[in-house]
Amino acid sequence: MIIMTEVQLPEIFTTDRLVLRPYRLSDADAVLAHATDPEWAQYLPVPIPYGPADAAQFIARQLLLDRSKNPAWAITLNADLVGGINVRLDLENSVGEMGYSTARWIWGKGVATEAARAVVDSVFKLLPVNRIRAMAKLRNQASQRVMEKIGMRREGVLRQNRVVRGEAIDEAWYGVLRKEWSG
Ligand SMILES: CC(C)(COP(=O)(O)OP(=O)(O)OC[C@H]1O[C@@H](n2cnc3c(N)ncnc32)[C@H](O)[C@@H]1OP(=O)(O)O)[C@@H](O)C(=O)NCCC(=O)NCCS
Repeated sequence: MIIMTEVQLPEIFTTDRLVLRPYRLSDADAVLAHATDPEWAQYLPVPIPYGPADAAQFIARQLLLDRSKNPAWAITLNADLVGGINVRLDLENSVGEMGYSTARWIWGKGVATEAARAVVDSVFKLLPVNRIRAMAKLRNQASQRVMEKIGMRREGVLRQNRVVRGEAIDEAWYGVLRKEWSG
């Protein structure tokens, strides 16, 4: 059974400090600037080294996304692109899966937490979603901290659950249910 919903998440969110908005073609340089950083890329399934064609392809994919199933936003702070966040919706199962990243120069300032909280809140307010999940590499402590800070619960570890660049990845999975979400 496919569950359809007319409601979509907003194209643009504003939080205390951030504006989350759709990606634009002109974002390719800013994406390239933070994605060439190996510290950023080590936790993500992206090409290393990361080049201009990879950034262009990433932006093209963002522009082509079906927002009713996989909404995504560039995270901006004072008009600078500082990261990205997305949700994959599986409305048949009332589940959303969130992913995010921020540029290294902005790490530790609460940007990912602020963006993730806003997106989870909006999903629960606007969509028939009962559970939001997210995962990080087991050694990605910063990402797990973000999930904890917004109130997600650690649900378990899937050992060697996928292979990225030849490495078998242990994943820490987190989730929050609608009834647990306090915003
Ligand atoms: C994970 C990531 C999104 C966090 O972004 P951020 O904007 O720095 O996040 P925040 O500032 O909101 O919170 C980060 C938290 O992690 C903590 N942290 C950072 N490095 C840490 C480490 N090595 N061990 C434990 N905690 C760590 C910070 O202290 C902060 O927690 P605090 O507020 O309690 O002090 C960012 O580091 C990133 O994009 N990394 C590369 C890509 C990535 O990992 N994406 C997520 C894939 S699952």
